[in-house]
Amino acid sequence: MRRRLAAGNWKMNGTGAALSELDTLTATHPSPTVDILICPPATLIHQAAQAVQGSGVAIGGQDCHAEVSGAHTGDLSAEMLKDAGATSVIVGHSERREDHGEKDDDIRAKARAAMNAGLTAIICVGESLEQREAANTLDIIGGQLSGSIPDLATGENLVVAYEPIWAIGTGKVPTLEEIGEVHDFIRARLDRRFGEGVGRSVRLLYGGSVKPDNAAEIFGVSNVDGALVGGASLKARDFSGIISAL
Ligand code: G3H
Repeated sequence: MRRRLAAGNWKMNGTGAALSELDTLTATHPSPTVDILICPPATLIHQAAQAVQGSGVAIGGQDCHAEVSGAHTGDLSAEMLKDAGATSVIVGHSERREDHGEKDDDIRAKARAAMNAGLTAIICVGESLEQREAANTLDIIGGQLSGSIPDLATGENLVVAYEPIWAIGTGKVPTLEEIGEVHDFIRARLDRRFGEGVGRSVRLLYGGSVKPDNAAEIFGVSNVDGALVGGASLKARDFSGIISAL
């Protein structure tokens, strides 16, 4: 049985004052049976990890470098994130793919580094609007899955997030049938590559304009094990509304 997961990605939002949202979240989060993860900006990881200690809420990074250390100005290794208190890291978010030109090979190397450091890699995949309109969604997702997921993936060290690019921050959400089709496809690909034991234990998140008022129906779709939430994770009240729908 896969535990459900609500992951919040704060993206490039939040200074120290935002940590008060974590206090609210840990005081009020409504479901001890759901795994809750917040990925704040790297500058807040250490303080955030201290703020949630003992609460059951975990802290993650938004990206990591593929190397353990070295001359990479401005970058952070998976070991550094772990040392700061992270248990997971998002890799291959479409904003990283677009803003930093990250390709599947880069993402696979980052995910491998994260797993080797003992972190769970949340690998993001998703199609653009043009790709969906050209009926290429499953080909694109299939290519991203084979290219981005390292061979050492297990049900513990891998989470896959399906985030259609056109649904991120837009208020547009695919139909439940479209979400189900992609999640079933991802599950089948994982089963085929890793065997059903691993394939069935990897959690699959949907991401893209998840809000308290649409979360319950999205979580009702087969093979949706939770959500990767951007905007609605910034306020503990909204995020709690999503968690309580899980
Ligand atoms: O990582 C989160 C996703 O990009 C979704 O963002 O909930 O603001 O649409 P959003």
